[in-house]
Amino acid sequence: MSVVARMPKTAKERGRIAPKKLAHFVLRTKMDRVPLILDWYKRVLEGEAMMETPMIGFVTYDNEHHRVAVLGLPGVTDHVDMTCGLHHVAFTYTNLKDLLHTYDRLKNEHDIKPQFCINHGPTTSMYYFDPDKNQIELQVDNVPEEKFAEYFANGEFTQNPIGIKFDPEVLNARLRAGESEEVLLKRPNGVPPDLTEFPIN
Ligand SMILES: [Fe+2]
Repeated sequence: MSVVARMPKTAKERGRIAPKKLAHFVLRTKMDRVPLILDWYKRVLEGEAMMETPMIGFVTYDNEHHRVAVLGLPGVTDHVDMTCGLHHVAFTYTNLKDLLHTYDRLKNEHDIKPQFCINHGPTTSMYYFDPDKNQIELQVDNVPEEKFAEYFANGEFTQNPIGIKFDPEVLNARLRAGESEEVLLKRPNGVPPDLTEFPIN
């Protein structure tokens, strides 16, 4: 399989008008599950409700009025795996320390644990399921933004565009022991997991 990876120019650099930002996503759920789903996003994202009713709620964690909204609608049925549509949504943390702090907080305070942890190369990523089985990735960029072009040109991602799995407990112990984030974020050598190992939703 031939893989080509590169960082394209931004739309602005190409002289085009594109959106300013990715604003929010809205989840549909059963009418009686709105508080449950909202609560999960508040916990995971350290968010608070901008507006909340038993039928609909808007959650934010920054100066955007809402980053996630949950809408209860009549007739909504249970999640079905492997249908067309959204696979996951990713949130990026400032650094590995913040990502692992969040891993610890969710595990210890809320018994929320990732389904799958992998260093993709460009990112170190943890995949979670919300109570409706929507998949959320919490991640940190492994290289600074200004070095993405250089990273994609070095061939590592081309050789293995999937990644290498990691144990968050081991990574956490190494960070606490004083190893640098630069070292810990570098993808180790190894064999990528089979795609069937990825959590299905
Ligand atoms: Fe992702």
